Amino acid sequence: MKRLWFVFKSILTVIAVMSIICLFWSAAYFITEAIYTRFAWQPHPLVRQIISSIFGFLLFGMTMSAIGPFLRKRERVFWHHLIDAINRIAKGDFRVNLQVDWGGRHHPFAELVTRINDMAANLQAMEDMRQEFISNVSHEIGSPLTSIRGFARALKNENLSQEQRMHYLDIIETECVRLSKLSENLLRLAMLDSERYPLHPTSYRLDTQLQTLILHCEPQWAEKDVDMCAVMEKVSITADEDLLSQVWLNLIHNAIKFTPKGGTITVQVQRRGEQAIVTISDTGPGIPKHDQPRIFERFYKVDKSRHRAAGGSGLGLAIAKQIVDMHHGTISVQSEPGEGATFTVELPIRGPFS
Ligand SMILES: Nc1ncnc2c1ncn2[C@@H]1O[C@H](COP(=O)(O)OP(=O)(O)OP(=O)(O)O)[C@@H](O)[C@H]1O
Ligand SMILES: [Mg+2]
Repeated sequence: MKRLWFVFKSILTVIAVMSIICLFWSAAYFITEAIYTRFAWQPHPLVRQIISSIFGFLLFGMTMSAIGPFLRKRERVFWHHLIDAINRIAKGDFRVNLQVDWGGRHHPFAELVTRINDMAANLQAMEDMRQEFISNVSHEIGSPLTSIRGFARALKNENLSQEQRMHYLDIIETECVRLSKLSENLLRLAMLDSERYPLHPTSYRLDTQLQTLILHCEPQWAEKDVDMCAVMEKVSITADEDLLSQVWLNLIHNAIKFTPKGGTITVQVQRRGEQAIVTISDTGPGIPKHDQPRIFERFYKVDKSRHRAAGGSGLGLAIAKQIVDMHHGTISVQSEPGEGATFTVELPIRGPFS
């Protein structure tokens, strides 16, 4: 159908051009004939032909340059809109949506308009993300600072008991740790975000790495009387050992943080074909279904009020996902509210470049 319309339009254009040429050359013929009669001049037919042809060209050229600006009005409007849009984008205003319908969807200019609209939409999305990031960071920095300032002022009161004083100092210390962890995580994310961040893959035993990290965290899980189970196959993997340590630590810390006293955490390592699969399950409160797709976003916390006491900034899973993505693996969560959560990480055992 489109092809037929294109052929039809081309035929119409040829007919229109031929008609215009005939019109101008006929006009040139009659005008020159009138001039010969007026001056009683009878030139040779060849000279007549040449004069009327030249006159036809002149007539055509003059008429076109006279009506050209009117014909190009639509084109001028198009460029005006386009330049205006580009100027707005250059000044940081990305709410651009060009509506210029130029010669149908398949015209090269229509393509240009679509690309500019897409570019503006992408830049707007990035700007929204940046704004959200800044407001999240400000909030995460703001609340511990307010708390530190309040308790520092309270400490100036000389009538405080030693016990109260120690309690306030503990809070100040906790908030400081929170701030330094936040800055550490932000730096880590910025480092991982930079495109050229180099991976240093080495071949090592994944099960041994997890066992070491579980032992490392023993003071935290032992303090909560958590039963820690490890079910591990011997799995060798080629990956960036330091970065993967960060993934496992973030997942294990979450499991410990959200598992109530006396609960159970199970860490499993197995090999399925060319994939290494690590699952970390806990018997904590679980994660509601509608929050599950969002927990890997930066600063996302399921229950902000419960979380304030737990003291996280919502970056741990975002960092874990970034690292797993860099290794061409996947990270997912399965959870039923009230029945704990299971985080599963799948990684290619031959490394990110296999
Ligand atoms: N094992 C889990 N059980 C229940 N909820 C969890 C679990 N792991 C993560 N979550 C939820 O996902 C959110 C995001 O986790 P994430 O590790 O990114 O941040 P965080 O632990 O709050 O802070 P950070 O890791 O930066 O200290 C948590 O706030 C929590 O609501
Ligand atoms: Mg965490």
